[in-house]
Amino acid sequence: MKSIDFFEQQFRQQAARGDFALSPFEEAVLPYLSGGVLELGCGLGNLAIAAAKKGCAVTALDASRTAVDRVNEAANRLGLSLAAYQVDLSTYAIDGDYDCIVAIGLLMFFAKERAHVLLADIVSHVKPGGIAALSVMTEGTTFVGALEAGNHYLFDENELSGPFKGWEILLSRHDEMTEPDNTVKKFHTVVARRLA
Ligand SMILES: C[S@@+](CC[C@H](N)C(=O)[O-])C[C@H]1O[C@@H](n2cnc3c(N)ncnc32)[C@H](O)[C@@H]1O
Repeated sequence: MKSIDFFEQQFRQQAARGDFALSPFEEAVLPYLSGGVLELGCGLGNLAIAAAKKGCAVTALDASRTAVDRVNEAANRLGLSLAAYQVDLSTYAIDGDYDCIVAIGLLMFFAKERAHVLLADIVSHVKPGGIAALSVMTEGTTFVGALEAGNHYLFDENELSGPFKGWEILLSRHDEMTEPDNTVKKFHTVVARRLA
């Protein structure tokens, strides 16, 4: 898949120069995380590591070998309750219930049907009182570097809120980022708590 190759290359470059900063979305989500956390599409694991440092028990999944190795190296070195696994999330089914499930910048890399299946899988595996934290690219995004033609999905502006009717919405925000050649990336980020 194009997105997997794109990020593998990007992560090799970032790891080589020691670029392990939290993204703005990871910064926004971190305060809500506690207990057992599943992170899908963890990338270099900056959020997973920060969550484990504040006491969470984290399982982190990603397709990138470089990313998974970096996360496990940091977990071992720092003695964290954190394990990362190399998984292709285009076919993965969540195997248990969690206090928090996180997917930041992931679901748009699948076709609409798969994005919705994985979204429903996330929603159904959050424990009562637990948190789902998601960020997706939305319509109007014109920066398509990592997106594979015919195998991606830009969500409607507020579509991500749909599955969380009846949940407590703790955060809902829209961001727009300027990219090269007058292109933009648009995101909707939601943190929601399933009622206990
Ligand atoms: C935009 S990055 C986000 C990384 C991290 N969550 C962050 O916020 O910095 C997208 C991530 O999704 C992962 N990814 C894309 N397609 C995937 C797939 N089919 N299976 C597993 N991971 C995938 C990439 O390797 C990458 O780590």
